Amino acid sequence: MTRVAVYPGSFDPLTNGHLDIIERSVELFDKLVVAVAHNQRKQALFSLEERIEMVRAVTDPARVVVDTIEGLLVDYARAKGARAVVRGLRAVADFEYEFQMTLMNRRLAPDVETVFLMTRDDHSFVSSSLVKEVASFGGKIDEFVPPLVAERLKKRIAERATQR
Ligand code: PNS
Repeated sequence: MTRVAVYPGSFDPLTNGHLDIIERSVELFDKLVVAVAHNQRKQALFSLEERIEMVRAVTDPARVVVDTIEGLLVDYARAKGARAVVRGLRAVADFEYEFQMTLMNRRLAPDVETVFLMTRDDHSFVSSSLVKEVASFGGKIDEFVPPLVAERLKKRIAERATQR
């Protein structure tokens, strides 16, 4: 039996915290699908295609499949034959949101289990939104994201600044 897991998220953009969850997940499952999704609650800085391309560029294609979710996560997981959805958990602040989504997903699809991996302590404060905020004020972000992402982020922020 092949154990397939889906790791969904906005990845706008991918951080070293996400990368750590990906690297640890591939050790636990036979196949990991990183599924980049549109989150209706968030305004994205990068398009879905850009986010997918960045994730592909920094992960091993032999071990990680990068894809996009069009509809519901649980429908996507079932279509991929995944019994598990992986999510990373940082501080207590993440808990309520994750708890609600997990219970909703379980109600929609009791056969799909959500598995949480606790963040590495040195990534516990790193989030895509904070990295974007720091970058937008010219702060140093290189230790929080892969070099390619840092480069794209600085470029996008500079482009946005000239558009204003
Ligand atoms: O990285 P994020 O933004 O916290 O990830 C949220 C994500 C993409 C996992 C969530 O928005 C999602 O599952 N979207 C797909 C649509 C869906 O199934 N929504 C209902 C969730 S209970």
